[in-house]
Amino acid sequence: MPLRWSDVTPKKDYLNRRAFIAAGAAALAAPAWALTGKPSPYSTDQTPNTLEEITNYNNFYEFGMDKTDPARRAGALDTDPWSVEIGGMVDRPGSYAVDDLAPANALEERIYRLRCVEAWSMVIPWIGVPLAGVLDRAGVQPGAKFVAFETLHRPEQMPGQNRPILDWPYKEGLRLDEAMHPLTILATGLYGEALPNQNGAPIRLVVPWKYGFKSIKSIVRITLTDRQPVSTWQAMQPREYGFYANVNPQVDHPRWSQATERRIGAGLFGGREETLMFNGYGDQVARLYAGMDLAKDY
Ligand code: MTE
Repeated sequence: MPLRWSDVTPKKDYLNRRAFIAAGAAALAAPAWALTGKPSPYSTDQTPNTLEEITNYNNFYEFGMDKTDPARRAGALDTDPWSVEIGGMVDRPGSYAVDDLAPANALEERIYRLRCVEAWSMVIPWIGVPLAGVLDRAGVQPGAKFVAFETLHRPEQMPGQNRPILDWPYKEGLRLDEAMHPLTILATGLYGEALPNQNGAPIRLVVPWKYGFKSIKSIVRITLTDRQPVSTWQAMQPREYGFYANVNPQVDHPRWSQATERRIGAGLFGGREETLMFNGYGDQVARLYAGMDLAKDY
């Protein structure tokens, strides 16, 4: 396993990268692979956001709608014990422990861009396992075409669920080939440590070429099905949020442009960056959508 970012970057330093760089230690601020010479072919070489940024600017409506609500409230969520029910069209349905799905010796670091549909972005050094391996072990049956995901429903610990903000529990879905794509992971950590609750502990989906809302947090159910699932945001506003939700600078949200994005942490003078088709992962994923009209299947 290649060295992880956190293996080469002391914690106090990645907590505040700018101070770190200012201190003249710029060499260590390079991505882990630049030091080990063993890049994960799936990781970006862009500099990750700080742990502070990644854990204090979140969307996790189960804990409230403000970006700082999850950091303040998600600590109350009890994530141990936790199990994920894998069912539907699989040979080995059942209740799986997080350690079974993502055992320590199988974990990989993936430094991915995350582009939210709200037009901000970050770079996050996830730790996790390819979803494909998990599904293979569950034994996907030939007729399965889609994978549906569900977040925990526990209003006592997730105060947002006491309000009709969304149709709880949060649901998402992928086409089977998207789910099996090597870029798609189940993350159980970031910066080399267990996933903070506000980022979707103990296990969440990460699909880097799609808008962030597809990357469902705190998963308790994975169901293989032959019907296209309806995701929470799609059910709420079908004109604004589609099933595919591929990052696409040419298809605007009905209420704002998707052509550019604001990189969190870039500062007041950081300016906006151009949004890339499929969030920059087009070489790997464009073939999944050959022949589709992405303005229609948004
Ligand atoms: N998953 C659940 N269960 N609830 C949510 O509100 N928000 C989504 C996604 N997963 C959300 C969720 C959105 S809109 C984004 S942009 C990402 O989580 C944000 O992930 P992060 O907070 O780890 O950056």
